[in-house]
Amino acid sequence: MDYKELVIKALEARENSYSPYSKFKVGAAVLTENDLIYTGCNIENASYGATNCAERTAIFKAVSDGYIKLKAIALVGDTSTHTYPCGICRQVIAEFSSDDTAIILVKNENDYIVKTMDEILPGAFTKKDLFK
Ligand code: THU
Repeated sequence: MDYKELVIKALEARENSYSPYSKFKVGAAVLTENDLIYTGCNIENASYGATNCAERTAIFKAVSDGYIKLKAIALVGDTSTHTYPCGICRQVIAEFSSDDTAIILVKNENDYIVKTMDEILPGAFTKKDLFK
């Protein structure tokens, strides 16, 4: 699949980043099972711990509309490097992903790498572990 559209949506979502404290803008876009795209940005807070990452904003928007299976997620932070999701976001992505969900780490529109969940969070704790 060509992930270009998702990459562009993540770049666009980054523009809405509310990050007056870190000044680190992040954008994300998820592709749901039925091919809808939801976007998100990081939303910071004067009480820093209340900050929400871009990935979780996008995922929570999709899930709150009833879409819990993700085909792909694209993420863009600083354009000088490929930004990887933080630990909390890896755990949240794991909840709604499958073995073949594409984790797209974007540097810019023409430079992105695609990883699997197992590559970015090997041995993840998931619902399977709760019901063994
Ligand atoms: N951030 C994200 O949005 N996603 C990540 O995976 C890493 C961190 C945000 C949170 C905070 O607003 C800023 O980047 C600096 O940590």
